[in-house]
Amino acid sequence: MTQDELKRKTAEAALEYIKGVPIVGVGTGSTVNHFIDFLVDMRSSIDGAVSSSETTTARLKEVGIPVIDLNSVGEIEVYVDGADEVNPLKQMIKGGGGALTREKIVAAASKTFVCIVDASKEVDALGDYPLPIEVIPMARSYVAREMVKMGGRPVWREDYFTDNGNEIIDIHNLDIREPIAMEKTINNIPGVVSVGIFAERPADIVLIGSENGIISK
Ligand code: 5RP
Repeated sequence: MTQDELKRKTAEAALEYIKGVPIVGVGTGSTVNHFIDFLVDMRSSIDGAVSSSETTTARLKEVGIPVIDLNSVGEIEVYVDGADEVNPLKQMIKGGGGALTREKIVAAASKTFVCIVDASKEVDALGDYPLPIEVIPMARSYVAREMVKMGGRPVWREDYFTDNGNEIIDIHNLDIREPIAMEKTINNIPGVVSVGIFAERPADIVLIGSENGIISK
């Protein structure tokens, strides 16, 4: 099976978790795009979705799923999203697609986070994947220098702007032995909007698509 086929199978498996759920939180990325395709069949049983990015919003609207403002709902029952890396503690690196800030907000506002990944995203320790950090544009160089002090090699995602009008730097070679501590430290750097470590609020369920079927953790 190709990686994309594995992503699709995993996305399909997530449907099990949204049965009877009126408002679903929807992440961003190629795995989630498959999930949205499947969500179409459940259109009549859901009131709508809370979206984590402009791309996802456009896709949801395209297939006729109402997009609901997070401010007008209480706690979301289930949030479904992909990840760039996930460790055995269900902590993740996210933000490869640049939607990390809104993803983190929707994840925080959700009771259950169902992470859908293909097996290539499963890691023992986070950090091989370059860590995305969303920064206020004027703080980009300052934050980058702070990350160098922490042992990382920052690379500016040039000519890229997030849905919030900010910029992203991707940090290579970072030693993320303690994801929660690292998440807090980076969040405290002035100019950082959010960091792609999702450890303080990890996933609750991880569905991993492999050649041997879907593994649920
Ligand atoms: C977007 C993300 C995505 O969840 C992550 O990049 C995984 O994407 P894909 O499903 O395309 O592999 O965090 O900001």
